[in-house]
Amino acid sequence: MPKQLYRLEVKTPRHQYPIYIGEQLIHHAPLWQALILGQQVMLVTNQQLAERYAQQIKSSLADCQFDTLVMVDSEREKHLASVEKIFTALYQQRHHRDTTLIALGGGVIGDMTGFAAACYQRGVRFLQVPTTLLAQVDASVGGKTGVNFAQAKNLIGAFYQPQAVVIDLDTLTSLPQRHFAAGMAEVIKIAMVADADFFLWLEAHMAPLLQRQQTILAEAIYRSCALKAKIVQQDETEQGVRAWLNFGHTFAHALEALTGYQTLLHGEAVAIGLMLATKLSQMLCDLPETVVERTQALLQQANLPTQLPPTIDHQALLATMAMDKKVLRQRQRFILLNALGKACVGEEVAATILHKLFNWQQGEFLCQKPPSF
Ligand SMILES: NC(=O)c1ccc[n+]([C@@H]2O[C@H](COP(=O)([O-])OP(=O)(O)OC[C@H]3O[C@@H](n4cnc5c(N)ncnc54)[C@H](O)[C@@H]3O)[C@@H](O)[C@H]2O)c1
Repeated sequence: MPKQLYRLEVKTPRHQYPIYIGEQLIHHAPLWQALILGQQVMLVTNQQLAERYAQQIKSSLADCQFDTLVMVDSEREKHLASVEKIFTALYQQRHHRDTTLIALGGGVIGDMTGFAAACYQRGVRFLQVPTTLLAQVDASVGGKTGVNFAQAKNLIGAFYQPQAVVIDLDTLTSLPQRHFAAGMAEVIKIAMVADADFFLWLEAHMAPLLQRQQTILAEAIYRSCALKAKIVQQDETEQGVRAWLNFGHTFAHALEALTGYQTLLHGEAVAIGLMLATKLSQMLCDLPETVVERTQALLQQANLPTQLPPTIDHQALLATMAMDKKVLRQRQRFILLNALGKACVGEEVAATILHKLFNWQQGEFLCQKPPSF
């Protein structure tokens, strides 16, 4: 039986949309019928998810023209040529301006489909139906869409909000544990920048979370989405507080690019980035050492890596970080913490400090177990 556990509203100046969190929502025909306004639908997904869910969604929308586009959804495929495949399918199946795209998948499917929706005929409706933990707590909420370009992560994109986000907890049952853990990195991040009590709650509940106990998991997803929605509402296009959500990401994006989007999952790169950004906050903002230790312990409890891979060249890491979108007026901006739950923007961190930070990781780090790569 479909069961809605939570409902949230995201309100931006030009747009308002619901986030539904529940069980068996994909099997809830009345929900689909309420969400699809036109007569055409293009489901964009991967092979495994198409086999599991496409027929179910299609039968809920029997009155619509329903097309399914199966994509390869690895990070390496998140580029303009993949988005062009979505345009081609829409054009060949004669989709009009009142079509709706459904992004059923992880953050890669969501980012590419959202970007296609933003561009096709200058903007058509789309729904986010995230099926990874990372996409449920972060990527599907807030309207950032886009693709990687050359060595730069998410360089081409648009702010484009979905009509709704449908989070069906049951889709996570098939998600491999490594990807589940990767999603936990973004949960930990949002707690670190916006809600110290939530961080405390995560420390107390990480074990049942990793066992995917449904009520605990639903609460973690709800709290993460609510915190993100609150920030997006204040600053949809990242002129101010939304930048906090990039905590750890300047390091993470560069790490992903340098490892060819193959060695590290996005969430794993974020975990290493969180560790570096936390230590940097201690060096520059007097963040207490205990926060550094607690962050390392929580990430490790979530089975996430916390150290730079030994193959990473520090100079190359700095050069790749300089390509980051967050560079403004030639200044590298870092999100730092004054305290748990209190982020700030730091600028102009000298290269010598960053080298010291990277060396700290390799030399002095009290790593209790080897990283998982
Ligand atoms: N737009 C945003 O605000 C935002 C925020 C954070 C991250 N992102 C982006 O999200 C991406 C990472 O997202 P992700 O971690 O979901 O990665 P992903 O989309 O690559 O999915 C991870 C893997 O899980 C598979 N998968 C998806 N759902 C599954 C399921 N239910 N069962 C089994 N396998 C499943 C996918 O095929 C893929 O192999 C990155 O590209 C990142 O840049 C975007």
